[in-house]
Amino acid sequence: MNNQEIYNAMQIKLGLELPPMPEFVPGIRRAPSRGFNLTRSQTETALKNALRYVPEELHATLAPEFMRELLTHGRIYAYRYRPEGRIYGRDIDSYQGNCIEGKAFQVMIDNNLDFEIALYPYELVTYGETGQVCQNWLQYQLIKQYLEIMTQEQTLVVESGHPLGLFPSKPEAPRVIITNALMVGMFDNQLDWEVATAMGVANYGQMTAGGWMYIGPQGIVHGTFNTLLTAGRLKLGVPADGDLRGKLFVSSGLGGMSGAQPKAVEIANGVGIIAEVDESRIRSRFDQGWVSKICTSAAEAFSIAREYMNNQQSISIAFYGNIVDLLQYAVDNNIHVDLLSDQTSCHAVYNGGYCPQGVSFAQRGEMLAHERERFHVEVDRSLRIHFQLIKNLAERGTYFFDYGNSFMKAVFDAGVKEISRNGIDEKDGFIFPSYVEDIMGPELFDYGYGPFRWVCLSGREEDLLKTDQAAMSCIDPNRRGQDRDNYNWIRDAQKNKLVVGTKARILYQDAEGRKNIALKFNAMVRNKEIGPVMLGRDHHDVSGTDSPFRETANIKDGSNVMADMAVQCFAGNAARGMSLVALHNGGGVGIGKAINGGFGLVLDGSERIDEVIKSAMLWDVMGGVARRSWARNHNSMVVSMDFNKNYAGVGHITMPFIPEENLIKATVSQALEKK
Ligand SMILES: NC(=O)c1ccc[n+]([C@@H]2O[C@H](COP(=O)([O-])OP(=O)(O)OC[C@H]3O[C@@H](n4cnc5c(N)ncnc54)[C@H](O)[C@@H]3O)[C@@H](O)[C@H]2O)c1
Repeated sequence: MNNQEIYNAMQIKLGLELPPMPEFVPGIRRAPSRGFNLTRSQTETALKNALRYVPEELHATLAPEFMRELLTHGRIYAYRYRPEGRIYGRDIDSYQGNCIEGKAFQVMIDNNLDFEIALYPYELVTYGETGQVCQNWLQYQLIKQYLEIMTQEQTLVVESGHPLGLFPSKPEAPRVIITNALMVGMFDNQLDWEVATAMGVANYGQMTAGGWMYIGPQGIVHGTFNTLLTAGRLKLGVPADGDLRGKLFVSSGLGGMSGAQPKAVEIANGVGIIAEVDESRIRSRFDQGWVSKICTSAAEAFSIAREYMNNQQSISIAFYGNIVDLLQYAVDNNIHVDLLSDQTSCHAVYNGGYCPQGVSFAQRGEMLAHERERFHVEVDRSLRIHFQLIKNLAERGTYFFDYGNSFMKAVFDAGVKEISRNGIDEKDGFIFPSYVEDIMGPELFDYGYGPFRWVCLSGREEDLLKTDQAAMSCIDPNRRGQDRDNYNWIRDAQKNKLVVGTKARILYQDAEGRKNIALKFNAMVRNKEIGPVMLGRDHHDVSGTDSPFRETANIKDGSNVMADMAVQCFAGNAARGMSLVALHNGGGVGIGKAINGGFGLVLDGSERIDEVIKSAMLWDVMGGVARRSWARNHNSMVVSMDFNKNYAGVGHITMPFIPEENLIKATVSQALEKK
C-alpha cells in the first residue's frame, strides 16, 4: 500500500498545501518547554506519529520542522497548522455543520482556545498548566473537518485528542465520545505518561479543557465563592445569612482556575491577597476587573488589606511575587490570616506548575528547559519552607485548607513526612483538610449540588439575561442555606460581570434543580424565546470524578481508591443520550490520581431532548449521590431517601444500614484479642 492509495482512501484529511507559518502575536503567554527526554527509537516514533497526519508530499519539509519543535518544546504542536489570528467562540450560526451538535462543539472548542481564555493558546493549553483541548493543531484541523460534516446518524470518536473517525450511530447516541490519557494501570504514572505524551499518543485533557466545556474563570468562581463562604460559616463563626466582611483570605495563583479567587472573595464581601509570580497573569486579571489592586510589596498588600477589613469593605489584591515570601512576611510580622490556601499548579509541580521561592518566573522557564534536576531540587526546598510557614500560621489560628491542587501530596513528596496523618505515607490522608473533605464534599456534593453550567450558543447577551432569570425562578431560596447562596449568586450574576468569552453561566444546583432548569431552557428554545443552549458541567462534581485527594476525599468507606463511579457516570450519560461524553485520567491532581468525566447536552428545543434531560440529568447527579449514600455520608442518605419516595416505581437506590459503633468496636476487639 502506498501513500497515494492512502490519500485516495480518505475524504476527510489534511490537504497537500503547506499552510504558511502563522505569526505569533506578541504578549500571548507561551508554554514553557516540557523538556526532551525520549530515547532515539521513541524520537523516531514520535516523528512518524506526527507525520501520519500529513500527506507524503509535505514530509520532507515538515520532518525537520517537527523535530525542532520536539527538541525545543518537548512536544510536537505543529504550530504551522494553527489558523492565523484570534480563535474565539463565535455565534453558532457562523459555523458550518450538518447537525446542530457539530456546530455547537466548534463554538466550545474555539472558546477553549481563545487568547482571553486559554492559558497557552498556541500550545492548545486551556488551563491548569497542561490541560489541552487536543495535542496539536493537526488534530484540531481534523476535528473541525469532522464536526463540519458529522450528521445525527454518526458519532465522532476522539482518543487523547486524536479523531479516530466518524462511525455510524443514531440520533439518540452521543455525537462525540472523548477519552483522554486513559493509561493501562501498570503504566499509569507520571513518567510513562510524559513519554506517551511526547510521543504524541496521550493528551492531558485535565477536565473541561479536553472535555471542551471550559467557560473561563467564571466556571470556578461560583465554587470558590461557595467554598469560602462555607469555610467562613464552619470555621470562623460567620452566621448562616452572613458573609466574609472583615475577614482576610490569602492564597496564590491568578491562572486559569486560581484567577477566580480574587473575584470570589470580593463577591463574598471579604478581603483577599493573592500572590502570583507571572506578571502577565496579574495584568490579564486586572484588565478583566477580576482583581482590584496590584502590590509589589507584602507590607503594602497587608496594610491595604487591614484598612479595608477595618472598614468592613471588600477588596482583592494581587501580590506580584512568590507566595512563600508573602507568608514569610505574615509570619515575621505576626499578621493574622483568617483563611489560607494555595492554588499553584502542584498537580504538575515539577513541570512548571510551582515556582520555587527565590526563582523568578523567567528563571523558572530557563531552568525547566535546561536544568530540570536543579529545578526539582529548588521546588522541594521551597515546598518545605512553604509548609513550615503554613504550620506556623495554623498554630496561630489560621484555617488552612488544600485547594485540590495536590499541594499536600507535593509537600509530602518533597520529603515532609509530618504532613501525612500517620507520619509514614499518604494512606490515611494529610494533617490539613482538603476543601472537599471538610467543606464542599459534605455541604455541597453529598446533597448533589455541583457546577452546572450553560452557554448561550447564539452569543446574544439578551439570551444570557433571559436564562439567568429563568434559572432564578426555579430556585426556592428558603429551602436550604445552599439554595439561598445559589439564588443570590444568579440574582447578582449580571452585576458581577463574570463573563469572559462565550455568553456562559455557572450555577451550582442539585439533581432536581439541574433537571428543572434544563427543561425550562429547552422549552424556551422550542418557543424561540432564546437560541440554542449548550448545557454541561465541570467534571469537578458529585458523580463525575473519582479522586481520593479531592472530589472523593470525603468518601470514607475505603472505596475512595475506586473509579467505578466516574466510569459509570460516563457510561450512563452516553446510554441516556448526552450529546457529548468525556472521560479522562488526571484532572486537577495529576496522572494516576483521578478519573474524571463530563458531558455536553445541546438544547435544540426538541421533545427528544426533554426525554434526555429527564433521565440523563437526573442520573448524572444521582449516581454520585447514591454512591456517597452507600459510603454512609449522611446528607446523601437524606437525599436518597427522598429519591426513593419521590421516584417510587421509577427509580430506586440501595441504602446502607448503620451498625452500632460499640458493636463494631467490641466485635473487632474480641476477635483480635483471641487471634
Ligand atoms: N479553583 C478551583 O476550584 C480548583 C479546584 C480544584 C483544583 N484546583 C487546582 O488549582 C491549581 C491551579 O489551577 P489553575 O488552572 O489556576 O492553574 P494555572 O497553572 O493556570 O495557575 C497557577 C498559577 O500559580 C502561579 N504560581 C506558581 N507558583 C507560584 C508561587 N510559588 N507563588 C505565586 N504564584 C505561583 C503560576 O504563575 C500560575 O499563574 C491546579 O492544580 C488545579 O487543579 C483548583
